Amino acid sequence: MKTALKVTAVVVPVVLVAMQFIGRPEHANPPEDPSHVVSATLKVPARVQDILDRSCMDCHSYRTRWPWYSHVAPVSWLVAQDVEEGREELNFSEWGTYSRKRQAARLEMISVMVEKGEMPMKNYVLLHGEATLSETDKDLLCTWAEELSDSLTAVAD
Ligand code: HEC
Repeated sequence: MKTALKVTAVVVPVVLVAMQFIGRPEHANPPEDPSHVVSATLKVPARVQDILDRSCMDCHSYRTRWPWYSHVAPVSWLVAQDVEEGREELNFSEWGTYSRKRQAARLEMISVMVEKGEMPMKNYVLLHGEATLSETDKDLLCTWAEELSDSLTAVAD
């Protein structure tokens, strides 16, 4: 038993250190084109912008804040994956490149995900208390997204 403990005490730190050197994910924030950011295309009231900034932008824009633990494997791998997938699905820094139809669909989906409590991601909220959305926040965000989605759909028809 003692030997097993000793082996573990040596092996675990070695593995953790080794992990820092394999597959280091890139933590890049590509430059934003100001004409592509969401507020350049849509009216974003200050309170809605505030909600997006503190709850969504880390994964859905090029304005990701990378805290120290996001540089430590294996957490770094998970964070990088969330950001990559998040940006692929919805990127407020690339909003201006979306077609009108895609914008309407994304807005609709924002409302659905927030209403269902699926966004912001739960494990993210655990570490970022400020990202928690109150009922008022949710109402504001969903009403904004739905109204805009409807008006974009009306124009697209
Ligand atoms: C920790 C990272 C993270 C945060 C913070 C986050 N998201 Fe996401 N989001 C993701 C990832 C990863 C996906 C893709 C996988 C999935 O759908 O679960 C996604 C997907 C989405 C989608 C597309 C869903 C679909 O199936 O089409 C929408 C819409 C969305 N998020 C909205 C939001 C909104 C609005 C916020 C803020 C209130 C937010 N997200 C906060 C990571 C995040």
